[in-house]
Amino acid sequence: MSISKAVKSNVTSKYSVEKRLQIERLVGATQIVAPSAGSDVIEGLTQTPKSLPPCYFYDDRGSNLFEQICDLPEYYLTRTETTILQQFASEIAKITGPCELVELGSGSSSKTRILLNAYQQLGYPLHYLPIDVCAGILESSAKQLLGDYPLLQIDPLAGTYELALAQLLPTQLPSRLICFIGSTLGNLTLDECDVFFSQIINALQIGEYLLLGIDLRKPKEILEPAYNDSQGITAAFNLNMLEHLNHRFEGNFNTTDFEHWAFYNESEHQIEMHLRSLRSQIVELRALNLKVNFARGETIITEISRKFDLNTIKHQLTARGLLPLNLWTDPNQWFGLLLCQLQG
Ligand code: AVJ
Repeated sequence: MSISKAVKSNVTSKYSVEKRLQIERLVGATQIVAPSAGSDVIEGLTQTPKSLPPCYFYDDRGSNLFEQICDLPEYYLTRTETTILQQFASEIAKITGPCELVELGSGSSSKTRILLNAYQQLGYPLHYLPIDVCAGILESSAKQLLGDYPLLQIDPLAGTYELALAQLLPTQLPSRLICFIGSTLGNLTLDECDVFFSQIINALQIGEYLLLGIDLRKPKEILEPAYNDSQGITAAFNLNMLEHLNHRFEGNFNTTDFEHWAFYNESEHQIEMHLRSLRSQIVELRALNLKVNFARGETIITEISRKFDLNTIKHQLTARGLLPLNLWTDPNQWFGLLLCQLQG
C-alpha cells in the first residue's frame, strides 16, 4: 500500500461514522419514487403471463426477510458460498492485488467481510462500493462496517445495477474487482444477462476482475425445499413484494388473496417463484393509474433463479472476454465461485 493512501485513510477514520458515510441515492433507488418509476411494474402486470421484477423484493422488510432466508437450514446457498469464500478469500486477494471492491446487491455485506478481511490482512487499502436497491440496508451495513474497519473507505450507491454501474468513476487503486456473488446472476434471463455483461465490461478496464458466485445444478429434492422452507420465510418474502408495491404505488393488494408457489422447472434449469391469486379479483395501483384483473389461480412470476452448468458459463464468460482465471467450489459441487479477468 502506498504511504500517501495509508495516511489518507487514517485521516479519514478520525471523522465520525456519519461524516465518513455518504450514501448516494441514484434515481431508481428503493426509497425514491422518480416520476418514471413503476413503468416496469405496469409492463409486467399488463403482460400475459404476468411478471414483476425481482428488485421489488428488497424494501427494508424484504431485505430483512432475505437475511433470514440466508440462515435457513434448507437454504444451502449462502452457507456453501461462505465456506468457499472463507477457504479461498486470501487466494483471491493475492491474485487481484490491491483493488477497489464494487459489490452488486451487497445487502448486509456479511459475506463481503470475508474478502475485506483478506485484503486487510495483506495490508491492502480497503475501498468498498456497495450497491443495492435498498437504501435502508445499505445505510445500516455501511455504518457497521465503518465501525469494524477503521481504515475502510466506503461509498455506498443506492440504485439499480444498471444505473450504479453507469455511474462508477475510474478507480484510484491499481485495480477493480466487481463482486456479483450469491447467485443473483440466476435472476437474469439470458437476454438480460447479455446486457448485464456488457455493463460489467464497460465498468472494467482491461486486466480488472469480476468475482461471480453461481448456484450449480443439483437434484430438485435439494433445490425445491430451499425455496419452500418449513418456516414460511420464503413465502413471506415473496408476498412482501405486494406490500412493497402497495406502499410505493398506492396499491390495494391483499396478501391473504395470494399464495407463494415455487418449483424447479427442470427443462429450463431454474427455480420459478410465483404469486398465485386465490380468487378472481381486481387490484388497483393508484399511483400508476393501473387496474389489474386476476383470474382465480392466475400467477405472477416474481423470480427465476437459474441453476448453472459450470462449463457452459465458463464458455459464455470467455466468449465475452471475461476470462475465468480460477474456479473454486465445495466438495459437493453445489456452488461455484469464478474469478474472471477482462481481456484486451
Ligand atoms: C438472492 C437472488 C440469489 O435466487 O436464491 C431466495 C433470492 N429467492 N429465496 C435466490 C431468493 C427466494 C436469491 N438470490
